[in-house]
Amino acid sequence: MSIKNLLPGRLGFGTAPLGNMFRAIPDEEAAATVQAAWDHGIRYFDTAPFYGAGLSEIRLGEVLSGMPRDAYVLSTKVGRVILDEAEDPVARDLGEKGGLFEHGRPNKMVNDYSADATLRSIEDSLKRLRTDRLDIVWVHDVAQDFHGDEWLARYETARTGAFRVLDRLRDEGVIRAWGLGVNRVEPLEVTLDLDEPRPDAFLLAGRYTLLDHERALQRLLPAAAGRNVDIVVGGPYSSGVLAGGTHFEYQQAPAEIVAKVERIKALAARHGVGIKAAALQFSLAHPATAAVIPGATRPGRVAEDVAALAETVPAAFWTALREEGLIAGNAPLPA
Ligand SMILES: NC(=O)c1ccc[n+]([C@@H]2O[C@H](COP(=O)([O-])OP(=O)(O)OC[C@H]3O[C@@H](n4cnc5c(N)ncnc54)[C@H](OP(=O)(O)O)[C@@H]3O)[C@@H](O)[C@H]2O)c1
Repeated sequence: MSIKNLLPGRLGFGTAPLGNMFRAIPDEEAAATVQAAWDHGIRYFDTAPFYGAGLSEIRLGEVLSGMPRDAYVLSTKVGRVILDEAEDPVARDLGEKGGLFEHGRPNKMVNDYSADATLRSIEDSLKRLRTDRLDIVWVHDVAQDFHGDEWLARYETARTGAFRVLDRLRDEGVIRAWGLGVNRVEPLEVTLDLDEPRPDAFLLAGRYTLLDHERALQRLLPAAAGRNVDIVVGGPYSSGVLAGGTHFEYQQAPAEIVAKVERIKALAARHGVGIKAAALQFSLAHPATAAVIPGATRPGRVAEDVAALAETVPAAFWTALREEGLIAGNAPLPA
């Protein structure tokens, strides 16, 4: 089932950074950022237990619990259960993404994609989010970047555990849609080849961006479009570097990435195009994408994102990007 009718618009708000992903954010600043998203008319919010070991969900719930529940769409994730006992956030094994959320809550996080853990995780998320229902549930990070060589074994646990539970909850109307939320293309390609269970959509982060889209274009996006499985694009600024930040793939951006961003920015400047407009509109141009969900920790960012989506971008800019080899020749261009 497509989620295009379920989503209230093409721009959502991602709250990973509000779990203190890179820095300790004061509660008031986090609340003001969610409020800014609301005030700008954004009505789709994405979070996860992983984001600061519950901190992002708590902060989001604080603001959204004051809003009518029918007025917004909410997604969170399963795959990591947050315990009451403490651990050292710096010492967590996060595969390629070490150090992430070290400023978040110190609660112990346990990877678990089983059916029981999925149900428990949903119950815990409902409490932290102060709501009685979730609209979309993503199975989180069942991929190589977090689990290395073990990812296929964990995927198998998810296939027979989380996937089946979520499929049933969707069929029973408890949730409205489910899928995987990952930074890698391969788990989604594998999932599309399954006869069952059948997800409704995928949250793909960082892999259909202006900066990085070649692999997703080859097989995943055409196959997803062919099966009516929509893509929500996470990390549209490649975790910040495209928008003026310093992170790529949630680490300090390497020199070759910074150099490519500079080339894209120079071309955008020549055409009078904002880099955020280029990034968001590129991600949304593929027919498989349903929405884009940039994240932020500062209220002012949301106005930039909203303006970027509305900006008129000359066709000559897109063709120049293509001619200079900065985007794939077969990437759909915004109309
Ligand atoms: N596995 C998954 O399911 C998965 C993985 C990744 C992401 N996601 C989802 O996708 C959402 C978006 O991804 P993301 O938040 O990681 O990355 P993103 O949207 O690509 O980039 C967000 C970063 O860009 C920075 N930024 C925005 N405007 C800026 C400007 N004008 N100047 C400098 N920096 C600027 C923000 O910095 P400030 O903090 O300073 O505002 C923020 O840290 C997440 O929040 C999450 O909901 C899901």
